[in-house]
Amino acid sequence: MKVAVVYESMGGNTKRAAELVAGSAAFLGAEATVLPITDLDYGVLAEADLIFFGTWTDGAFLFGQRPGRAGRFKKLPWLDGKQVALFCTYAVKAGGTLPALARIVEGLGAEVVGWRAIKRSAIDAKHIAPFVVDVFDALGVASAA
Ligand SMILES: Cc1cc2nc3c(=O)[nH]c(=O)nc-3n(C[C@H](O)[C@H](O)[C@H](O)COP(=O)(O)O)c2cc1C
Repeated sequence: MKVAVVYESMGGNTKRAAELVAGSAAFLGAEATVLPITDLDYGVLAEADLIFFGTWTDGAFLFGQRPGRAGRFKKLPWLDGKQVALFCTYAVKAGGTLPALARIVEGLGAEVVGWRAIKRSAIDAKHIAPFVVDVFDALGVASAA
């Protein structure tokens, strides 16, 4: 199974989360490729059976949360029928970040198959691997691990 992990990161937290998502997917037997939103590989995206898409939380910390630098998401291609799992990193409260992200990818024709908000103090395999396992389980993907 081919997995693409697309991320937008300003300070590196979401990049680290994306790398851990890819590492967990690879551990489960998938072929995983990490792609920054600024350097997408449309061939890899077209071939992916599953896409993880992660961003950071922008806002006023306690209200107005939204995906960070969403203007960059214009680089995403049409995702017709693709299964997409979403994640975001945040400091205090992720609020509406994931629902907003879901609206964006659904607007591109994707099917959202799971999501997880990851506190920036919990960007580690212990917290991220269970998210990837849950998504694989939801899709009925047998893992090689
Ligand atoms: C301008 C700005 C606004 C932020 N607003 C929020 C917020 O409203 N709520 C929150 O929980 N975290 C907020 N954060 C924290 C980031 O979402 C968090 O540190 C995230 O992990 C950063 O990811 P990155 O290192 O990939 O850019 C904000 C960070 C920045 C730089």
